[in-house]
Amino acid sequence: MSKAPTLRLDRLLANMGYGSRREVQQLVYAGLVTLDGETLEDADDRIVVTRDLSERMLIRGKPLDPPPGLALMLHKPLGVTCSHKEAGPIVYGLLPERWRRRDPAISTVGRLDKETSGLLLMTDDGNLLHRIISPRANISKRYHVTLDRPLRGDEAEIFAAGTLMLEGEDRPLLPAEMEALSDTSAYLTITEGRYHQVRRMFAAVGNHVTALHRDKIGNLALPEDLEPGQYRPLTEADLALILPPVKTA
Ligand code: URA
Repeated sequence: MSKAPTLRLDRLLANMGYGSRREVQQLVYAGLVTLDGETLEDADDRIVVTRDLSERMLIRGKPLDPPPGLALMLHKPLGVTCSHKEAGPIVYGLLPERWRRRDPAISTVGRLDKETSGLLLMTDDGNLLHRIISPRANISKRYHVTLDRPLRGDEAEIFAAGTLMLEGEDRPLLPAEMEALSDTSAYLTITEGRYHQVRRMFAAVGNHVTALHRDKIGNLALPEDLEPGQYRPLTEADLALILPPVKTA
């Protein structure tokens, strides 16, 4: 088991966006930081950074934000972007303002288009991010697709073949699984994350996607009670549904 990291209290709080080192030192000296019910008096105390810290530490009487190692699932609404380079509201704006000042910063695990809704993961843990998006992890993503025109009937076979070449690319797509739900809707499960992949796959078979929603990553489904714009921490059980088991020699 890996050992939990330790950080100086002032460094921890400053990195979590509670203020500059000096400002958080003042918070501590004013007696506004407690751990397990005891007031912390020294800003240079070393704190063991465990996941349960937000249940044990209070800042001005309020529970500490999730400590570094944060991982969330967000129900991304339509019309919100995942990239600072695109115009319009951004997913980070759905999180508490203080979280935007965190170091390490929170980023999205892959991206969804502005006009795609559904399950989006976010984390400040680079290692976790890499484990999920690495092509070697081969993690599936399921999309509910609504189409402009009726399915022709040969799409599932074409997508499953592993030979479909998207316009402007020189490598065929990996096999993908399509399940028709009606004439104009389907589930499509892919393991890659190429630019606008689902929309371009349906364009390649002469159709047009009119609505796109991701409802699953690995075996983790978007919870029905998580409304668009809402987020919640990923539990160990959620992570176990996403990540393949670690192989031991
Ligand atoms: N494929 C797309 O076309 N868009 C997304 O947002 C995700 C997958």
